[in-house]
Amino acid sequence: MEQSTNRDEIFFAVKDLTVEYTSGGEVIHAVNGVSFELEKGSTIGLVGETGAGKTSIAKAIMRILPDHATKAVGGQVLFEGEELLALPEQEMRVLRGKSISMIFQDPMTALNPVKTVVDQIAEGIRLHQKLNKHDSIKAAVKMLETVGISEDRAHEYPHQFSGGMKQRVVIAIALACNPKLLIADEPTTALDVTIQAQVLDMMKSLQNEMGTAMILITHDLGVVADVCESVAVVYAGQIVEYGSKEDLFDHASHPYTIGLFGALPDLSKDVRRLSPVEGLPPDPSNLPTGCAFAPRCPHATEECGQAIAMTEISPKHYVRCIQIGKEK
Ligand SMILES: Nc1ncnc2c1ncn2[C@@H]1O[C@H](COP(=O)(O)OP(=O)(O)O)[C@@H](O)[C@H]1O
Ligand SMILES: [Mg+2]
Repeated sequence: MEQSTNRDEIFFAVKDLTVEYTSGGEVIHAVNGVSFELEKGSTIGLVGETGAGKTSIAKAIMRILPDHATKAVGGQVLFEGEELLALPEQEMRVLRGKSISMIFQDPMTALNPVKTVVDQIAEGIRLHQKLNKHDSIKAAVKMLETVGISEDRAHEYPHQFSGGMKQRVVIAIALACNPKLLIADEPTTALDVTIQAQVLDMMKSLQNEMGTAMILITHDLGVVADVCESVAVVYAGQIVEYGSKEDLFDHASHPYTIGLFGALPDLSKDVRRLSPVEGLPPDPSNLPTGCAFAPRCPHATEECGQAIAMTEISPKHYVRCIQIGKEK
């Protein structure tokens, strides 16, 4: 009983999530025991290099991993007390778009080229809010206006829009049903810098207005500083450091995070993209035992070859490193 009360209090949590793919006879360990929590209306940033497993985490939550390539998914995804990984697909389909929606990494491929933008937004509204055609179009036009696209352009096709406008449409689709959780996978990476800022500002104000919680996947530490309350650093399919934005920017502790964030003086200064850490991430079909970062780590010792647990180094600030606090 007690356990279920606890579960109800958590708005959203991922527990020990694992994702394995198969490709060419090899097993790819893309996500290796990821856990994090999210409060209603708040934003967590997932940061890490390409290939770290960020998109796989997002797709596992949405249950949209490709069937043919996915070998196994493990762990739990708890959303308002329900375990999403155990839901029948039919119920999951109702949640998707209505309660949880996702903005994909490549906005240009997310739109249907043969449908007008207003129709694409209206479709989701019709499905989830059970409105008739006329009312769903009206709601879609309003949503387009919310993201800064005027009614006279609503009946155009995606190819008539610029990259920034297309991304606004994608955001409008994702927010049209007022989801409780939005997963945004590098939502502005494909846009040029000035448009990026505009689109992000818009996302942020819509999020505040609607009280939407967000999982924001990004390479951009400026975006993290701007938008997120908490941050998880993903490396080789594991979270290596997890805490508040202030913990991560001002007290980065894992050698990998220090590499990424270390070049940044502090939160109040201008921030920029992840600075590259020397070396390459490990091959996910052949991960080292123990700390996956050890081969690149200036502080690694033999001890790092054992499995490393997360340590809470200050309240709610977790680090996966056994060298912390030791003489360096
Ligand atoms: N459909 C797939 N089939 C096989 N391997 C995949 C597939 N999708 C992703 N991967 C592999 O899983 C790992 C994590 O990828 P991904 O989740 O896309 O990382 P990120 O979003 O952080 O760049 C990578 O090694 C990638 O090559
Ligand atoms: Mg990705």
